[in-house]
Amino acid sequence: MTGELEGRVAVVTGAAGGIGREFVSGLLGAGAKVAALDIDGGRLGELAAAHQADAAAGRLVTLPADIARWAECEAAVGRVRERLGGPDILVNNGAVGMGVIRADHMTKLVAIDEIEPEVWDRFVAVNFSGAWYMTRASVGGMLDRGWGRIVNVTTSFFTMLRGRFHPYGPAKSGLEAMSAGHAAEFAGRGVTVNVVVPGGPTDTPMVPPESGIDRALMVRPAAMVPPVLWLCSAEGAGWTGHRYVAGNWDAALDPAAAAEGCRAPIAWPDLAQSPVWPGGKPPE
Ligand SMILES: NC(=O)c1ccc[n+]([C@@H]2O[C@H](COP(=O)([O-])OP(=O)(O)OC[C@H]3O[C@@H](n4cnc5c(N)ncnc54)[C@H](O)[C@@H]3O)[C@@H](O)[C@H]2O)c1
Repeated sequence: MTGELEGRVAVVTGAAGGIGREFVSGLLGAGAKVAALDIDGGRLGELAAAHQADAAAGRLVTLPADIARWAECEAAVGRVRERLGGPDILVNNGAVGMGVIRADHMTKLVAIDEIEPEVWDRFVAVNFSGAWYMTRASVGGMLDRGWGRIVNVTTSFFTMLRGRFHPYGPAKSGLEAMSAGHAAEFAGRGVTVNVVVPGGPTDTPMVPPESGIDRALMVRPAAMVPPVLWLCSAEGAGWTGHRYVAGNWDAALDPAAAAEGCRAPIAWPDLAQSPVWPGGKPPE
């Protein structure tokens, strides 16, 4: 993969987090220029320090931004365009986790009356609308150039549907559905949209120590990188509208076989087959 993304510009949101920094390293390693967005300016500084040579060479740009705000997303993508070009690749990875509500949310699940309405709104704004804002700001250029890769990080269906894991689960299921819709909307125009998930609890700050889970048994954050690089590669060009479970990626296989091994349908396509529709069929 070294050098395969030479000339491409990638934007990663939540870039200072556990999985985000792995995306940044992986994309830089594959030759892309990277714009790293995060709300946490201090940790973005640490990220730049860890990639000092790339930052000094202008191959890595760090941009503090709150993806819950359209104006900040639009401005950030404008700055990426000016400083690096593109963007060609967008990894919608930034999110807030249930630790914002309570650190022991995994052993003692969260009830509806523990969620303040403004906390609900914040989760929806960051974990769902943020990805739409970033896509809205970036996709026009991708469609004009006929080349784009959008990767949305959602979560396991178990997490989306389980009780007492709100607002995280429902906000992520919105992002999953949006990914399916955008894959269909941009199909055949050179812009692919896929979901990549770890497949289970992953060893990042999003899972607090109070979770009670043995960290050695969690998915490694670096496991998320190979499916994303594969989706951005020439081989991945034909694949849109799928989800990839990174924890099932088998590095012993060649990348195409590994991708096949962890590919699953995006969202709920089987449930969308037979709407009750006047005249029989909805317009495509
Ligand atoms: N860790 C897990 O177990 C797990 C499991 C499934 C999916 N995920 C998903 O993986 C992705 C990465 O999460 P992680 O585990 O690395 O967590 P993390 O908490 O380490 O990273 C999340 C990053 O998003 C940033 N962020 C939060 N709000 C933001 C905002 N408004 N604007 C910009 N940036 C913002 C945070 O500052 C942080 O750096 C998330 O989408 C998460 O939902 C994580």
